[in-house]
Amino acid sequence: MKKIGIFYGSTTGTTEKIANKIAEILNIEDKDVRDVATSSPSDLAAYDLIIIGTSTWGNGALQEDWYDFVDGAEALDLKGKTIALFGCGDVTMSETFCSAVGKLYKDFKETGADFVGAYDTDGYDFKHSEAVVDGKAVGLLLDEVNHPELTDFRLRGWIGEIM
Ligand SMILES: Cc1cc2nc3c(=O)[nH]c(=O)nc-3n(C[C@H](O)[C@H](O)[C@H](O)COP(=O)(O)O)c2cc1C
Repeated sequence: MKKIGIFYGSTTGTTEKIANKIAEILNIEDKDVRDVATSSPSDLAAYDLIIIGTSTWGNGALQEDWYDFVDGAEALDLKGKTIALFGCGDVTMSETFCSAVGKLYKDFKETGADFVGAYDTDGYDFKHSEAVVDGKAVGLLLDEVNHPELTDFRLRGWIGEIM
């Protein structure tokens, strides 16, 4: 069986809450839901499917706990592993909506991992995001600030795609 781990960075708890929701849906044990602030990149080695979540801060910046983690992770060889990305943002920050997801995509591409879970941006209302590559979001983009009512539907559809 494929071993699944979730790695998230979260400042005010929103991305953490979504990570826990994903874990509940997929029956992932608590020990496999990892805050990057207290994890090391070598922990990624234990998993086949790695679900990665970040919120976006500043002007399209990564959630702060990711910086050190990504520095170490970029050098890893994750060939043969699969990564699924998700992010929490605020669609009213219309030029940088969930841009941190795009930043992590670029960083983790260096590892040779495969990606799943690209998501259609129809139904979203933002002008620009680094998370959109070739017309599609590279992962699931959530907005718990303005549209929490859409999260469950989006999340379940996306989980169906990545499994
Ligand atoms: C100062 C500040 C800057 C933010 N910048 C962005 C941004 O550039 N793009 C975006 O999509 N969301 C932005 N957000 C929204 C957060 O990403 C959103 O509130 C998110 O749910 C926080 O998740 P967390 O608690 O897991 O860190 C910003 C929020 C604050 C307070």
